[in-house]
Amino acid sequence: MPSYTLAFVGHGFMATAILKGILDNELIPPEKILVVNAHNPAGAEAFAREWGIAAGPPEALGEAETVLLAFKPQGFTAAAPVYGPHIGAGRLVISILAGVELRDLAAALPGVHLLRAMPNLGLSVGLGATGYTPGPGVTPEQEALAESVFSAAGVAKKVTEEGLSAVMALSGSGPAYFFYLAEAMIDAAVAAGMDRASAEALCKQTMRGAAALWGAEEVPPETLRARVTSKKGTTDAAIRAMEAGGLPAAVASGMRACMARGKEMRKEFLGIEE
Ligand SMILES: NC(=O)c1ccc[n+]([C@@H]2O[C@H](COP(=O)([O-])OP(=O)(O)OC[C@H]3O[C@@H](n4cnc5c(N)ncnc54)[C@H](OP(=O)(O)O)[C@@H]3O)[C@@H](O)[C@H]2O)c1
Repeated sequence: MPSYTLAFVGHGFMATAILKGILDNELIPPEKILVVNAHNPAGAEAFAREWGIAAGPPEALGEAETVLLAFKPQGFTAAAPVYGPHIGAGRLVISILAGVELRDLAAALPGVHLLRAMPNLGLSVGLGATGYTPGPGVTPEQEALAESVFSAAGVAKKVTEEGLSAVMALSGSGPAYFFYLAEAMIDAAVAAGMDRASAEALCKQTMRGAAALWGAEEVPPETLRARVTSKKGTTDAAIRAMEAGGLPAAVASGMRACMARGKEMRKEFLGIEE
């Protein structure tokens, strides 16, 4: 029986958010969680002390049932030979490294079972939106563990690997689109005479309220939009002008650009020439 249920490789923003979800929900006891960072063991030890988990060298990964890769994708090529040889055959490796595909993981980490996940910023407040795709050989128990790790701090949906690229453009980068829309709304309110602090406060509360309304009902967003859009009214005029201004097309083109950049980054980070 392995000593650790889960080992984190890396202890940054995402690892912290995922670990917090696990501990808050008592999914895995802290003594069954390990953190490893070969080039900054002192950093890993400080993180382990802070959260009451264990820290160890790369060899300790041999004692982990599941390993979660949570460092930057740029570091993957150098990190794989440092950690890979210590991970037991058939164990589950979860990767959240943006752009690193299952085939890249499989080439660098032979003999393990692989699952790719794309979480988002909401994880840090328990409202994450994660897409994941299991690779060949992942057992139902391994998949269930991965699912529970991400749903401990939000919502997790299984998708195809191709779908993960759309997940990156939808929920991965999605929080930035909402902030961008908020910026545009605040700027327009200021241009119309409001002070910026009040505009920010009301815009923030509007987004909170809209999110809560949607969270309270299983309906598509257009149903809720229809409720605040009376025919030929003020909201109707606003939506028509936004449509005429190309908002839906601009959003679709932004999401396509996000997916294309993901593919480019894979090549840049992994030094792939295709
Ligand atoms: N942030 C997001 O919204 C988001 C969304 C989806 C996916 N992701 C993915 O999540 C991953 C982590 O992102 P993050 O925002 O958490 O990054 P981060 O805050 O920069 O954390 C990276 C962590 O990895 C450690 N690290 C770096 N190289 C390492 C190595 N070779 N071995 C072990 N640890 C190493 C770093 O510690 P030292 O620097 O001290 O070594 C740090 O603790 C990335 O692959 C990213 O693509 C992030």
